Amino acid sequence: MTDRPYVIDQMISAKAIAARIEGLAAEIAAWFAGTDKLVVVGLLRGSFVFIADLVRELDLPVEVDFLEVSSYGDGMVSSREVRILKDLRGQIEGRDVLVVEDIVDTGHTLAQVTKFLATRKPARMRTIALLDKPSRREVDFRADWIGFSIPDEFVVGYGIDYAQRNRNLPHIGKVRFV
Ligand code: IMP
Ligand code: MG
Repeated sequence: MTDRPYVIDQMISAKAIAARIEGLAAEIAAWFAGTDKLVVVGLLRGSFVFIADLVRELDLPVEVDFLEVSSYGDGMVSSREVRILKDLRGQIEGRDVLVVEDIVDTGHTLAQVTKFLATRKPARMRTIALLDKPSRREVDFRADWIGFSIPDEFVVGYGIDYAQRNRNLPHIGKVRFV
């Protein structure tokens, strides 16, 4: 199935992503203004490009940490069961936390991750996702900040993969099988 040939049609340009991140960073900095330190938690692996660009626009004292959860394997369909593959290195109790995700699709991943992180009693926890596919939602979850709302298309690039491929594409594109 992952050997099926496909092409990638550009959906969101690198320029549009950069401009949107500037705006998001300003909103986040305003919301967390006065924090002693913001722990920015990236969900591996899809958020690695987004978090790199986002923290460089964030005018706040930040710490960067990563959490790896499994949900998709190599396919295109969510398993709906989220397992922790790699936990945070640092403590978040009493700290301000921003969870950074690439895409909110069914909502299971961020809903379960935020529930799990909340048990560690962060002071304030907010979520951001670069992309949102609201039409695919299965659980009632909404990220606090969203970069772009997109239709039900399978996308790649800017850190996001299809079977581990295309993460290095500088823009967001949709997969079209040929
Ligand atoms: P959810 O648990 O269904 O919300 O899924 C979220 C995860 O599914 C994201 O972190 C992505 O890794 C993955 N995902 C959802 N849609 C896409 C897509 O279009 N391309 C690649 N990965 C996706
Ligand atoms: Mg992911």
